[in-house]
Amino acid sequence: MRAIDIIMKKRGTTIRDKNGEKTLAGSTKLTGEEIRFLIDSYVSGALPDYQMSAFLMAVYFNGMDFEETGALTDAMLHSGDVINLHGDGAIEGLDGEVFVDKHSTGGVGDKISLPLAPIVASCGVKDPMMSGRALGHTGGTLDKLESIEGKDSGRFNVFLSEEEFKAGIRKDGFAMMGQTPKIVPADKKMYALRDVTATVESVPLITASILSKKVAEGADALVFDVKYGTGAFMKTKKDAEELAVSLVNTAKAMEKKASALITNMNTPLGRTVGNFLEIEETVECLRGNGPADVMELTYQLGAEMILLAGKAKTRDEAIEMEKDAVSSGRALERFLANVRTQGGDADKLMAQIGTRRSPFRAEVRAKEDGFLSLDAFKTGLAGVYLGVGRNKATDDVCFDAGIVMHKKTGAEVRKGELILEVYGKDAECLAPAVALLESEAISYSPEKPEEDELVFKIIQ
Ligand code: URA
Repeated sequence: MRAIDIIMKKRGTTIRDKNGEKTLAGSTKLTGEEIRFLIDSYVSGALPDYQMSAFLMAVYFNGMDFEETGALTDAMLHSGDVINLHGDGAIEGLDGEVFVDKHSTGGVGDKISLPLAPIVASCGVKDPMMSGRALGHTGGTLDKLESIEGKDSGRFNVFLSEEEFKAGIRKDGFAMMGQTPKIVPADKKMYALRDVTATVESVPLITASILSKKVAEGADALVFDVKYGTGAFMKTKKDAEELAVSLVNTAKAMEKKASALITNMNTPLGRTVGNFLEIEETVECLRGNGPADVMELTYQLGAEMILLAGKAKTRDEAIEMEKDAVSSGRALERFLANVRTQGGDADKLMAQIGTRRSPFRAEVRAKEDGFLSLDAFKTGLAGVYLGVGRNKATDDVCFDAGIVMHKKTGAEVRKGELILEVYGKDAECLAPAVALLESEAISYSPEKPEEDELVFKIIQ
């Protein structure tokens, strides 16, 4: 087998149509063996970056069907360690469970994983949760968790061994960790290459990248939160739906249960954008005081997880179970139990609620009367300026930086009213962040802006 033949097969050729116009044609479906050969050779170092780049570009232009996407996902999955939660790898007493996780394509103020895991765990779901870090304008669950301080100078530990991960799931019903370097090494190499070869925005490549990592963590069932809008990877509902269908169908082809929600990310979720700020908001959600949008999305995604795990028969029953987990205090107790299990100091955390803020503070007040719109992408970008997120993977984040939203899209404001409180990593970052928020993130209109519903569609 030669890489060049496989690349040529996927590339096809250009032909002239009857009007003499050139079009792409003749791309041929690849076999699983050919796809495996390319991925294995790339991970071993036998296939150079320039040939993988050409292959990625051929996939970008010609796509892949579900069978090819499944074969690509499978080849990437087996490039490294795969956690087995059944049979030989079973957690004592849990072999019969359906392990379910949620994956979000990323957003601004998207802290849903944090209240979701303890809520569904309180309803009997076992969740092996592997999360990512902030990159670009979107936040990362691992950075938020690491903002939780431990005893002395320690903090919440996201670097778990497989044994610790399994012990956490057994004890608390869920555990939260980062991807280890041994999980899907093919994706690490391929994603870095896609980033610099303009081949990120491809549905089969995104599907294989996301799904290989999620299957490697041991989940039997997956719920995807595929976002659309200015703060999302997919800008339109149509593109988000294409990705959602691809994720669900490819997961099913790999014998995983799956469903997806297509959700609105035109404006930030909840009341805060930040690291510790979003932990605070999580505690408020679990105390029953969460913002309506965060609670709605958490309950909707949680209901899908509960149904896939077989812990309820109907969506209404699942949502009632979740509400009871919150109102009884069981979900907050689970969250705090997990904080203790993973090295955080739950008492210190609760004592810090409402008090832990960077000393570098500014305010954004309404420049005019009107109805407010707050753009997710620009708000997320202001968060990066403030130190919530990263410009590149090696940057540090500031745990106590962020944005508190006193008013959200659709609110009627009077000139001079407080819209946002802004906390920065230092004094210098405040002015550019405030300027971006005032001039680009916030707009005013005389009429209440029409807002899309939070959940556009559920794909099952
Ligand atoms: N997130 C991923 O993990 N991979 C992609 O390709 C895009 C988003």
